[in-house]
Amino acid sequence: MDSVSSPHGDPGRVRLRAFEPEHIKELHRWLNDPVSIEMVGRTPLTYEQTVKHVEKKRQNGDLVLAIANEDDQLIGWIFLQHIEYEHGRAGIGILLSPEARGRGYGLSAMRQMVAIGFGQLRLNKIYLTTRGINEQAIGLYKKVGFVVEGQLRKHGYSGGQYYDTYFMGLLASEWSAD
Ligand SMILES: CC(C)(COP(=O)(O)OP(=O)(O)OC[C@H]1O[C@@H](n2cnc3c(N)ncnc32)[C@H](O)[C@@H]1OP(=O)(O)O)[C@@H](O)C(=O)NCCC(=O)NCCS
Repeated sequence: MDSVSSPHGDPGRVRLRAFEPEHIKELHRWLNDPVSIEMVGRTPLTYEQTVKHVEKKRQNGDLVLAIANEDDQLIGWIFLQHIEYEHGRAGIGILLSPEARGRGYGLSAMRQMVAIGFGQLRLNKIYLTTRGINEQAIGLYKKVGFVVEGQLRKHGYSGGQYYDTYFMGLLASEWSAD
């Protein structure tokens, strides 16, 4: 798949490309990074579990794309999941390699994926959940235009603590109004 660009003035620092089987080795590394384990609230995965995780997403009909930087290097993945056309909605998720975080790539990737969701899949709403402690992710999502629609108290557990979960959403009408 060729790259897709956003019509919303995104500087286009990243390109979204097909997520290929050979990308799974890198995905396995990112998933087991201590920060992503803490922020996503998952336990470490074996390589085989990572392969099954990707297969399951494909079987579910999720739109899974690779994120490539200016040098065409793989730096993350992004996906639309739980796509329900009858409701015009889908969830969104993103994970960058530890080395690529904090440099604006997430914003570029999110904007492009949201543009695909609203512009090509004709969705009405894109939503996500994130841990209340994940300030970097919440800051990114707010910058894209997502708003907090609900706060689920003490909804997740890891490292001996319960954490709140935020439910955030973005409507097509809000995106078009940018
Ligand atoms: C979360 C993630 C996708 C963010 O992408 P990123 O490219 O690293 O995001 P950035 O650090 O460039 O931040 C994007 C914006 O969010 C905001 N932001 C970043 N860190 C923030 C913080 N600590 N507090 C508040 N806002 C913050 C800023 O507005 C920033 O834009 P700016 O630097 O132009 O002002 C990425 O860090 C990642 O993959 N983390 C690990 C996995 C993860 O947590 N995934 C999400 C699970 S819900």
